[in-house]
Amino acid sequence: MKALIAANLKMNLNSRQTIALVKNYIKLIRKPKNDVVVCASFTAIPEISKSVKKSKLVLGAQDIFYEQKGAYTGEISALMLKEYGCKYAIIGHSERRQYLKETDELVNLKLKGALRVGMTPILCIGEDAYFRDSGESFAFVEKQLKACITGIDKKQIIKVAIAYEPIWAISTTKDRRDITTRDITQMHNFIRKLLKDAYDLRTASKVRILYGGSVNEQNISEILKAENVNGMLVGAASLDARKFAKVVKAFEQ
Ligand code: PGA
Repeated sequence: MKALIAANLKMNLNSRQTIALVKNYIKLIRKPKNDVVVCASFTAIPEISKSVKKSKLVLGAQDIFYEQKGAYTGEISALMLKEYGCKYAIIGHSERRQYLKETDELVNLKLKGALRVGMTPILCIGEDAYFRDSGESFAFVEKQLKACITGIDKKQIIKVAIAYEPIWAISTTKDRRDITTRDITQMHNFIRKLLKDAYDLRTASKVRILYGGSVNEQNISEILKAENVNGMLVGAASLDARKFAKVVKAFEQ
């Protein structure tokens, strides 16, 4: 299976800055062997849509609403984003869960909303420092994942990418901590097992499990030693085209 390396630009850049960054991505990432996705802000998506389409990169959004059309003031649907060539959407990022109070139930609806129109969701899961410290990381992730994929069948789950993003390891988290390769292996193996139990081995083996949390050009080779890592969701380091390109290249070694 192809790896998936996604840039999560978050709310960091305006349109002009996004155009400049993507230009550099395209220059540095010419023939990627894996899927490389740029998840830009809604306002920048129309601006970069054409140049991304002409490149080997793929366009993604950072969120969607679960319905496609209707009286939902302020929301943006997967269908509307598809108009601009968006093929991926991050769903359930911990920052949305924290600041917008998104619940697993809402995340589940969004996942289904994306799948309904053929958009690939990047479902984010992961525990915070409290659960980590109380030794409940696995229990937390199990409960969260199960709730988020409720009602998703075998055919649909293989289209979902799951990003394990422990909140305590995200670069902007206050008092962030380093994660070890062993931690990543344990959790990714656990997620694969949860998928096997929920579906079957064949299905579980087709789901891409990404890691996210302070991934950069310096720690990528170490992280890649972990098992069951099929891609990365990159935040801060994706704001620097050279750093992001190095992460992309590391997967091709
Ligand atoms: P980070 O962000 O790479 O800056 O830690 C990752 C994410 O939140 O998706």
